[in-house]
Amino acid sequence: MEKQLTINYCEVKLDELECDDRFLLNSAIEATDTAYAPYSNFHVGTALLLEDGTIIKGSNQENIAYPSGLCAERTALFSAGVSHPGKTVKTLAIIAKNPESKLVAALPCGACRQVLAEQQSRQGDKIRVICYFSDDKIFVFNNVESLLPFGFEM
Ligand code: THU
Repeated sequence: MEKQLTINYCEVKLDELECDDRFLLNSAIEATDTAYAPYSNFHVGTALLLEDGTIIKGSNQENIAYPSGLCAERTALFSAGVSHPGKTVKTLAIIAKNPESKLVAALPCGACRQVLAEQQSRQGDKIRVICYFSDDKIFVFNNVESLLPFGFEM
C-alpha cells in the first residue's frame, strides 16, 4: 500500500519575522565569524534560544582529519547541554557565509537533524528551526519531525 507523508513549513520574508526571531538570526550571523573553516571556507553560524531567554551560539569547527570536525548546529546544541543542562531549546536559527562572504542557506545535515530530534524528544517540547536563504526567503519549521521524518529510534 502506498502512503503519503506531508511536511509542513512556513516560508516568510525577513521583515515578516517576529522581533525575537530576527534577533536570533542576527546572533547566528555573528556566530559565522567564529567558524573555523579553513578547508571548506563555508562559515556556518547558529544561535539557539533557551526557555529562559539565553542565546547560545555555535559555528562549524573543522579539522584536518575531516570527520573530527563538527557542524555549527551540534556545537550550539552540545554547548547548551553543557552550560545550561536541562533547559528547553525553543528555537534554532541557522545561516552561512559562502567563500565569497555572501549570506547563504545552510539546511541542517542528517546527523544534526538526528541530534535535534533527540533534543526535542528529551525535552518533550517542540523545537522551531529557522533557515535563512535570503531576505525574501526564510524557512521556519515548527518541529523537528518536519526536518527528519522517520528518524532513528530504539
Ligand atoms: N556544516 C554545518 O556546520 N552544518 C550543516 O548542517 C552542514 C555542514 C559545515 C560542516 C563543514 O565544516 C562545512 O559546513 C562544509 O560542509
